[in-house]
Amino acid sequence: CVVLFGIWLWVCQGFQCIEGDAFTRNNFPKDFLFGAGTSAYQWEGAVDEDGRTPSVWDTFSHSYNRGNGDITSDGYHKYKEDVKLMAEMGLESFRFSISWSRLIPNGRGLINPKGLLFYKNLIKELKIHGIKPHVTLYHYDLPQCLEDEYGGWINSKIIEDFTAFADVCFREFGEDVKLWTTINEATIFAIGSYDQGISPPGHCSPNKFINCTTGNSSTEPYLAGHNILLAHASASKLYKLKYKSKQRGSIGLSIFAFGLFPYTNSKEDEIATQRAKGFFYGWLLKPLVFGDYPDEMKKTVGSRLPVFSKEESEQVKGSSDFIGIIHYLTLYVTNQPSPSIFPSMSEGFYKDMGVYMISAGNSSFLAWEATPWGLEDILEYIKQSYNNPPIYILENGMPMERVSTLQDTQRIEFIQAYIGAVLNAIKNGSDTRGYFVWSMIDLYELLTGYTTSFGMYYVNFSDPGRKRTPKLSASWYTGFLNGTID
Ligand code: NOJ
Repeated sequence: CVVLFGIWLWVCQGFQCIEGDAFTRNNFPKDFLFGAGTSAYQWEGAVDEDGRTPSVWDTFSHSYNRGNGDITSDGYHKYKEDVKLMAEMGLESFRFSISWSRLIPNGRGLINPKGLLFYKNLIKELKIHGIKPHVTLYHYDLPQCLEDEYGGWINSKIIEDFTAFADVCFREFGEDVKLWTTINEATIFAIGSYDQGISPPGHCSPNKFINCTTGNSSTEPYLAGHNILLAHASASKLYKLKYKSKQRGSIGLSIFAFGLFPYTNSKEDEIATQRAKGFFYGWLLKPLVFGDYPDEMKKTVGSRLPVFSKEESEQVKGSSDFIGIIHYLTLYVTNQPSPSIFPSMSEGFYKDMGVYMISAGNSSFLAWEATPWGLEDILEYIKQSYNNPPIYILENGMPMERVSTLQDTQRIEFIQAYIGAVLNAIKNGSDTRGYFVWSMIDLYELLTGYTTSFGMYYVNFSDPGRKRTPKLSASWYTGFLNGTID
């Protein structure tokens, strides 16, 4: 439990270490959900088939030289085969997202019957095999026409359009979908799209590391975050008023969360870590639970942080039945007044946190080092700071180089360690209700294209038939789910 990073740090102090503690699926509550996920742009392909129009990810990926989701794993045509694999694996829940521009090609108005049919068929197939759908309404892929019309998420017009899109989904799929996430990893979505420029629409202030279009890193991430909260709250209100009593589902927002620990045992680093947690977890969680932004954030960001009206605050507060957590990595935090996570990117959110953050393990995209105590700490922090809300771990997994990835023993160790962390957190009182491996099969990876992949099934992207082959992790998860291996 000791990690060497320039200095020795006792990171397991105060936590239960999981090494040596054998556990199986049967150690978890019966109604805990084990699943795996994909997202529309990363899994479906068929980007110009059956009436789908481009999303911002189509535009973005085609402007860079790292592959695109035009065909990817071809889930649009191979969904039955994939659901069969899930059933053979004993998967309890499948997380996928709805492509807005496949369902409503003009962003608002007319529904595309073929898009509707695809999702109805997918949900039906899951139902036949007893697999519960967990549907994400928005996983990064805004219809390009809405981005062109008013600038997407930094314009409050998005709230009405998103709510209307959600309304269609609830009405059409809600009879069989009981778990809805409105918006995927909302924190990183706002930062990546409007501060760092690494996802569409690729906004960031000039001189950043990537080909930035335009933007203002010091205001836009906060504006996007605000509209994300209001859009989520509006869709959630609609669900509760119009559908919930009949459909009896739950609706939540998902955030991305790094594990955060002080780099040294100095008072400064401890305070900086608390500040970083307040920013990173509290930015969206505090409004969702208490109706307003964290004080440390209001103080630092000042007039750049939007203000909730009384009515908005009331609508946002309590709008999530659960919190979705997307977690992969742990960072060490040091106090630094004007730094950033990446030294070249010092203008936006990370600068406002006033910290410098260093990865607690190998975090190159070729095999991440497991730091499960980071997830355990997040769950404990959320339990204590935000009234112990129900939680689903909606993504966790490890990227590996696509060559020779069938023997992915490191991935098994990674996933197993994190499942152990979840079990510890539950034993300590966290209301965590599900864990989803990212990803069910190899997909188009948003940050690295096809060079690395997270899947438990290998997909041969050179084969027109996109053959699927199980990796060791698929066999391990199968055994874990049916309780035969730990
Ligand atoms: C989180 C995103 O939701 C997912 O789309 C992406 O593939 C993974 N991070 C890995 O980068």
